[in-house]
Amino acid sequence: MANFLLPLLPIVLACLQVVDAAQTITVLTMNVAGLPAAINGNGEGDKKQNSLDIGTAFANGKFDVIHVQEDFNYHAYIYRTDTHPYRTATSGGVPIGSGLNTLSNFAFSNLQRIKWDKCYLNEGDCLTPKGFTSMTITFDQGKEVDFYNLHADAGDEDGDGEARVSNLAQVAKAIATTSADRAVIVMGDTNCRYTRAMDKLSDFITASGVTDPWVTLYRGGLAPAQGADPLLCADPIPADNTCETVDKIFYRSGTDVKLSALSWTYDASEFLNKTTGKPLSDHVPVKATFSIA
Ligand SMILES: *[C@@H]1O[C@H](CO)[C@@H](O)[C@H](O)[C@H]1NC(C)=O
Repeated sequence: MANFLLPLLPIVLACLQVVDAAQTITVLTMNVAGLPAAINGNGEGDKKQNSLDIGTAFANGKFDVIHVQEDFNYHAYIYRTDTHPYRTATSGGVPIGSGLNTLSNFAFSNLQRIKWDKCYLNEGDCLTPKGFTSMTITFDQGKEVDFYNLHADAGDEDGDGEARVSNLAQVAKAIATTSADRAVIVMGDTNCRYTRAMDKLSDFITASGVTDPWVTLYRGGLAPAQGADPLLCADPIPADNTCETVDKIFYRSGTDVKLSALSWTYDASEFLNKTTGKPLSDHVPVKATFSIA
């Protein structure tokens, strides 16, 4: 190398390092069915034992960031067996809390808990202050991703559909205001299906600029049409990844941080009771891996 180029060497090496700095993370979203058994017997088996087993499955070291919904009255059992170093404090059981929590291997900041502007009584949605949370998680080399966890209005009546559209529009607005130009991962229980016309899921995707890796990786890049037949999953273990549930993961790159979805899958088998083989929740968790660069 010519001597006059030597001073440039550190700069060249620094550039190579930046290019080399992609990190892979695995995320999971799960509705843990933690409503008091007396109100809602959703799921099978004993809710306390199921919650201890869910925490044990969370602690297997495979999940960098976990979003839970319906984490109400059995919250302490999940946190007793889970081992993630960074976790949100519960906002309370029914009827005080939102049931939303985050468990993470990486530190978070700017936690916000926001209540929905609109709820519809049909499925007890107004019984608890459901809504969404947002936070910034800082990964290796200071790379920041804004995470949104949500639990939208449930039910099949027109009022439920209107509430869900309003809920998701509220999240899209928060993303536009709080996370402009920033990398974003949204995951939670949307209570929405692409095929259910009243959910207008495509409106949310357009408004927030996010991508659904399930659509990219398992639906050939084309979201199922609104009003098409539901793509129901086999219960309790989906036969493959082409069927649709309401638990979803979306993402978007930012100006400085690029996210790419490497994989997406239902993760039913790790969340069964080891003795009875019954599912630990009435929702199948969804898992994805991303590279962050
Ligand atoms: C599974 O369910 C049974 C029966 O409810 C319970 O005794 C057991 O502790 C649960 N968990 C495991 C890991 O077997």
